Amino acid sequence: GVKLPAELERKMGLLKSSQVLPAPSDAAKREELTQLAAELEGMYGRGKYCPPAKPTECMDIGQLSAVLTTSRDPQELETAWAGWHSISRPMRGKYQRFVELANEGAKELGYANLGELWRSKYDMQPDAFAAELDRLWGQVKPLYDSLHCYVRARLTATYGKEVVPPGAPIPAHLLGNMWAQQWGGIYDLVKPANAVLPGFDLTTQLKAKGVDELGMVRYGEGFFSSLGFAKLPATFWERSMFIKPRDRDVVCHASAWDIDQKDDLRIKMCIEINEEDFSTIHHELGHNYYQRAYNGKSTLFLDSANDGFHEALGDTVALSVTPAYLKTLGLIDQEPPAEADIALLLQTALDKVAFLPFGLTIDKWRWEVFSGKIPPAQYNQAWWELKRKYQGVAPPAARSETDFDPGAKFHVPGNTPYMRYFLADVLQFQFHRALCQTAGQKGPLHRCSIYGSEAAGDKLGAMMEM
Ligand code: ASP
Ligand code: SER
Ligand code: ZN
Repeated sequence: GVKLPAELERKMGLLKSSQVLPAPSDAAKREELTQLAAELEGMYGRGKYCPPAKPTECMDIGQLSAVLTTSRDPQELETAWAGWHSISRPMRGKYQRFVELANEGAKELGYANLGELWRSKYDMQPDAFAAELDRLWGQVKPLYDSLHCYVRARLTATYGKEVVPPGAPIPAHLLGNMWAQQWGGIYDLVKPANAVLPGFDLTTQLKAKGVDELGMVRYGEGFFSSLGFAKLPATFWERSMFIKPRDRDVVCHASAWDIDQKDDLRIKMCIEINEEDFSTIHHELGHNYYQRAYNGKSTLFLDSANDGFHEALGDTVALSVTPAYLKTLGLIDQEPPAEADIALLLQTALDKVAFLPFGLTIDKWRWEVFSGKIPPAQYNQAWWELKRKYQGVAPPAARSETDFDPGAKFHVPGNTPYMRYFLADVLQFQFHRALCQTAGQKGPLHRCSIYGSEAAGDKLGAMMEM
């Protein structure tokens, strides 16, 4: 109840809300929670599926993801999907205990449960934040419904009515991605009949030009340099992990790190030479440039306005990876003509529009798990009810409460809040539009690249610094 100066009040609030995993004060429980968090993330990192027919040829998430993106055989797709979703079964009991202990920590800080803590970081009441998300989803849902309807029809045409029944949820293994979260992998199945995008398959072009893992990262750095940002420090190149190690298991899920709150910036990922990772590199570097931009602030303020901003930054820059930009780099020879716009927009929609309901459901599930509305006995069933309701997808194989499908998505065992990605999926288009205006670009937004615009870079830098 004490009235404090605004800055101090904000700092006091941040001391409570900035943790994503508050530990209970009891020493034994703190240790137990720490162990569980490490075990769950370790189980995800070690996750492998070993086919019964070839028990020595185990597949990791990189290999299984490649199957989901490239195979067009429903049986092979289902095996890869079910294989990966079997790695999380043993997480179930641990996750249940993890929730109990994390909730205790949140309660000690004055929150009803961990979900309320997570919702309290958006400069509005936790309930108002939940309502705002529903409002946003209501605005974009018609676009998703159209995409869903169109894609399902094309999948029915490809696989037949038995595999993809019209009027029913889309089987989740047919969308080109292990979690059905971005659908760009099936562009070839759904592209407009007359769509010619000459030389626009970036994966093919990257491979043809012999671009390696570090070369991919250099393209990312080059974009930020063109906006006027200083180059990454030598330590970034020495200390990052760009390539999957041969001699040990690691968590391959890409992440960005700020080790000393100054300039020891790093990324950790198992880079593959393809379009998706080209974009993910920009995503991760966005975190690093953001971290560096605000490094002069006091400790509690070393963060973005909210976590949606942090996730949006690199994606915003990646929206400028247009055909014109790729031509500048010499990665494609020809810019597709204006007639290719529908195809280009569809390509973007497959990733960015498809992601919207996915981004929403992960924490709709977790919030109810933390509040107890979803009891452990219904973890998996409730997960698929949410997926069906928002994404309109269904599991390809029978599920039961011995499964723990949420654990097959990194952010659940990794305890990373997920609403930030839904917010970022909206914010990045607002940022892109504003930056394109600043850069003085006149054409349609989807053809705009802010590459080389120091005016846009200045504005972006000024925002990140705050
Ligand atoms: N770290 C990113 C996401 O989870 C990038 C990715 O792997 O897609 O936040
Ligand atoms: N990077 C996040 C994920 O992999 C959002 O795209 O889920
Ligand atoms: Zn991120």
